[in-house]
Amino acid sequence: MQKYCLGIESTAHTFGIGIVDFEGIVHSLINDIFIPEEGGLHPALVREQHLNNFKTVIIKALKESELSIKDIDLIAFSQSPGLGPVLKIGALIARMLSQVLNIPLVGVNHCIAHVEIGRLMCKIDDPLTLYVSGGNTIVSAFESDRYQIFGETLDLAVGNMIDSFARDAGLSHPGGPKIEKLALKSDKYLPLPYTVKGMDLSFSGLYTASKRLLESQDFNVKYNLNDVARSLQETAFSMLVEVTERALAHTEKKEVLLTGGVAANKRLQQMVHSISNEHGARFAVVPLKYAGDNGAMIAWAGILRYQSEGEHEIGNTIIKPKERMDYIKIPWRSGD
Ligand code: ATP
Ligand code: FE2
Repeated sequence: MQKYCLGIESTAHTFGIGIVDFEGIVHSLINDIFIPEEGGLHPALVREQHLNNFKTVIIKALKESELSIKDIDLIAFSQSPGLGPVLKIGALIARMLSQVLNIPLVGVNHCIAHVEIGRLMCKIDDPLTLYVSGGNTIVSAFESDRYQIFGETLDLAVGNMIDSFARDAGLSHPGGPKIEKLALKSDKYLPLPYTVKGMDLSFSGLYTASKRLLESQDFNVKYNLNDVARSLQETAFSMLVEVTERALAHTEKKEVLLTGGVAANKRLQQMVHSISNEHGARFAVVPLKYAGDNGAMIAWAGILRYQSEGEHEIGNTIIKPKERMDYIKIPWRSGD
């Protein structure tokens, strides 16, 4: 008989439920997303929305999968990393479901889940992954029993940087897709700070300089918002691609996976595709439904962990807001 895992994503703005069977078929994926009216994510407000909506999201997910809660065999939840108060909601719901239904519980690292759903959906075995989202900017690959981090941001995540700039330009959240559209209307490049330190990236100088361009007297005289949007994207993406290419040359991986919400950007896809070709590596972008935060990736990573290590005792399900993906051994790939 088929077994099913219900995965709970609750690290930041998305409360997501995914139901996945143990062979990797996704039966449902339902998200409820907190959209800030202004500014960043206020944990107390996000927590409130997740608390208000979790039941509806679970019911919708069960309906979509045509399953009953009694058909679920395993509960997985995002245990790390993320906003503490928000992670706690997912952990609490996961513990309750596991205890009430008397089924095993497993906690997973959100970043590892992004890689694993990408491997599953793109039928890729051993990729170098560029994971770019509102909260993360990480270049990683499997080496010596874990997903090692080869490069990461030292300050802002690239998605957050683009969203902040878009907000300054008067665009609504999320800004990424709007900046992408505006950039297409320009062919100008305005010089902006390009900061790669070793294998790490810094986006704060780029953000500040782009914001200054909006405030300058030359704005809408010598250049317009389209030109700033294009210059910002070209600079940020070239930085990402430089680090990805160096990691590719170092690891000699034969596959490149692009994931996270920013993976939706066609210009970024084109640039990463191009360096993959130059290195003879297959390029894949995770289907958008699975590239952003979702419960299906948590369910699938939970299944992998459960099958290789068994369930987590309740005492080991404490949330870990700062846990990095390279802290964690990956037993299901130890034969690699
Ligand atoms: P994480 O918790 O993994 O950091 P997240 O909470 O930011 O993820 P995601 O759905 O993975 O959520 O990513 C959202 C980000 O993706 C936002 O910053 C958004 O602007 C960005 N994004 C979405 N579409 C595009 C696009 N076409 N171009 C650039 N950025 C995009
Ligand atoms: Fe994410």
